[in-house]
Amino acid sequence: MKKYYITTPIYYPSANFHIGHCYTTIIADAIARYKRMTGYDVFFQTGTDEHGEKIEKKAKEQNVTPKEYVDKIIADAKDLWASLNISYDYFIRTTDENHEKAVQKIFKKLYDKGDIYKGEYKGLYCIPCESFWTESQAIDGKCPDCGRELKEVSEEAYFFRLSKYQDKLIQFYDEHPDFILPLSRKNEMLNNFIKPGLEDLCVSRTSFKWGIPVDFDPNHVVYVWVDALSNYITSLGYPDENSELFKKYWPADLHLVGKEIVRFHTIIWPCMLMALDLPLPKQVFGHGWLKIDGGKISKSLGNYKDPREYIKDYGVDAVRYYALREVPFGNDGNFSEEALISRTNSDLANTLGNLVNRTISMSHKYFKGLTSNPKLNEEIDNKLIESVLALKDIVETKMNELKVNEALDEIMEVLRSCNKYIDETTPWTLAKDEAKKDRLATILYNLLESIRHCAILLSPFIPTTSKSILDELNTKKTSYASISNFGELEENLTLNEPKILFNRIENK
Ligand code: MSP
Repeated sequence: MKKYYITTPIYYPSANFHIGHCYTTIIADAIARYKRMTGYDVFFQTGTDEHGEKIEKKAKEQNVTPKEYVDKIIADAKDLWASLNISYDYFIRTTDENHEKAVQKIFKKLYDKGDIYKGEYKGLYCIPCESFWTESQAIDGKCPDCGRELKEVSEEAYFFRLSKYQDKLIQFYDEHPDFILPLSRKNEMLNNFIKPGLEDLCVSRTSFKWGIPVDFDPNHVVYVWVDALSNYITSLGYPDENSELFKKYWPADLHLVGKEIVRFHTIIWPCMLMALDLPLPKQVFGHGWLKIDGGKISKSLGNYKDPREYIKDYGVDAVRYYALREVPFGNDGNFSEEALISRTNSDLANTLGNLVNRTISMSHKYFKGLTSNPKLNEEIDNKLIESVLALKDIVETKMNELKVNEALDEIMEVLRSCNKYIDETTPWTLAKDEAKKDRLATILYNLLESIRHCAILLSPFIPTTSKSILDELNTKKTSYASISNFGELEENLTLNEPKILFNRIENK
């Protein structure tokens, strides 16, 4: 069986998670579910990045230890992921003992090899981003990523020889044109960071304590990004290269990350891996940001709700669908409750819900809910069947290109054409004529079978709804393999009563 290792970034538990964090995680979940459905042995990992100065400060403000501070947020995050049906296989915390030990070994390994050396760091540091900047990179003395104040730091520190790997990194980019997607982000990395020259990276701090101590020099804690990036291998058992998980799943197939952290994943991480003599991940995809009113989703601005409120009001699949469908993957997009409502109404209530409800209701009304397929197909039916049969491959192509929103739109397009098919074949007219009974049964069968195909294809995206639909159909044909043909839906099946899948939401 082919393996597929997909990761989300590990999130800073500095505050409870918002819809932006959900966005990355829902997309990763849909991809993981899709790969599982299509026969891959998937390892889907998420987690939390718990060390660093920012967390230490927050905990101090609340008079608790950093561990107490993060434990509360992580319990809440796990509850959020459960309420969003996130099917992760492993949740890593950088405070896990095995991770901490593994990071110490990684650091020592690089030190012994001469790729980490001791020196002095003088420069600027952005605490919220946990990133170092030079005078020339800072914009008006502020962080070029988030625009916040930078702090001047000067301390004894260890450095990683990033510069040593510059040429090898460029060569790797050349040989692996799909390593960074979208392509624009690759060019940004090359032109803005690599070609101007990579400087050695400061990889330890002495001015605060909340981090993994360098075991051979415990005044120092490991730089949080070295700690964090290592999560992708420590979870698999590295540095034990004989660990079953490591042997099976490394290298990662996809690191899904937000655009502002592409730089860490496509420069620092590959160079660390080269220094460790390990294979590099196959792909890093940098997605855009969800904004609110065109700006940052921000705790201090208080411009967002707990995502569970949306789940409570509109249902988990409305939130998942919105995150997956609304924004072309890779671009920035705006989040608004109005757009969530309108997306739910148009696609989930009017197109999907309405189709399922109409079809199953008619089957009950005209055939007591019993299926049969007399196969009295005409041109209009053949056209529909053709488009349903083509859908599986179309979705596969889109998913392989990580065009998740387009994959969903293709499925919606078929559902829309099913609704049109009802309007054009007018089953209610046929029902008046006893001689047209077989034609009517054929049409309903074609609709039910199309719904079955779409419900299976929708299962990675909106799993709860997909299951409800398949339950209504009462079918045993729920596997991915069963949608290679049209006509697998059993005959003489008694359909269950239709339920309302999505209520139309009136604007607030
Ligand atoms: N801890 C680091 C990642 C380490 S990975 C080895 C970090 N954490 S974060 O919590 O600040 O961000 C984690 C991810 O959430 C990033 O990919 C970021 O882009 C994503 N998002 C945070 N806010 C977001 C939006 N508003 N919209 C989309 N994604 C957002 O960086």
